[in-house]
Amino acid sequence: TKALLLPEEVGMKKTKIAVFVSGGGTNLQALIDAQNRGEIKNGKISLVVSSNPNAYALERAKNNSIATEVIRRKDYAEFDEYDSAVTELLKSKDVDLVVLAGFMTILGKQFISAFENRIINIHPSLIPSFCGEGYYGLRVHEEALNRGVKVTGATAHFVNEVCDGGPIIIQKAVEIQNGDTPEILQKRVMEQAEWKILPRAVSLFCEDKIIVKDNKTEILD
Ligand code: GAR
Repeated sequence: TKALLLPEEVGMKKTKIAVFVSGGGTNLQALIDAQNRGEIKNGKISLVVSSNPNAYALERAKNNSIATEVIRRKDYAEFDEYDSAVTELLKSKDVDLVVLAGFMTILGKQFISAFENRIINIHPSLIPSFCGEGYYGLRVHEEALNRGVKVTGATAHFVNEVCDGGPIIIQKAVEIQNGDTPEILQKRVMEQAEWKILPRAVSLFCEDKIIVKDNKTEILD
């Protein structure tokens, strides 16, 4: 006889997580490492979707025996066809949570509404600063340095139809230092903020500890 029942045996289904990537995938790696440490409570990364067949993130998935799919915007004539294809793919895999971890392709209305409050994005600034259309990757850090802010950071948030406008889940501040370049700042923001708050936000979702109301969240912790 077993002394303890597993969560799935008492009817608690593990949250199936799909991670969307486009590049190096260090945020995907942070999620995998957190999962291996048991810090993604009640969730499992079951799929990695890349917009780019050459993304190093795909190697990280394969090294950890995670299934992969590549879906490219340019393989569809119309944006709506791309939107439908992404939506169908994710529905066919029974995915409960989508995590955008450095995903550089805009997603469509159909997909966003099919996964309302079930898509988490990591953005490399303190929203609402340095965000919205055109603010991605190194550009965000260039603009922060151009403006001369003294503090920046990262934000984990739900995705809605407004670019970087969905409910904020966690933010973490990072100080700017003398001599920072966009590359140096990007690395500090990743290490001190992104790689910590993204796995934390994902775990909170899987533990059902995030309440969304009026485009805001309340964290039950
Ligand atoms: C990360 O800094 C992430 O916050 C950013 O792209 C980088 C991806 O790195 N995302 C955006 O700018 C989204 N607007 P990674 O592939 O090593 O995780």
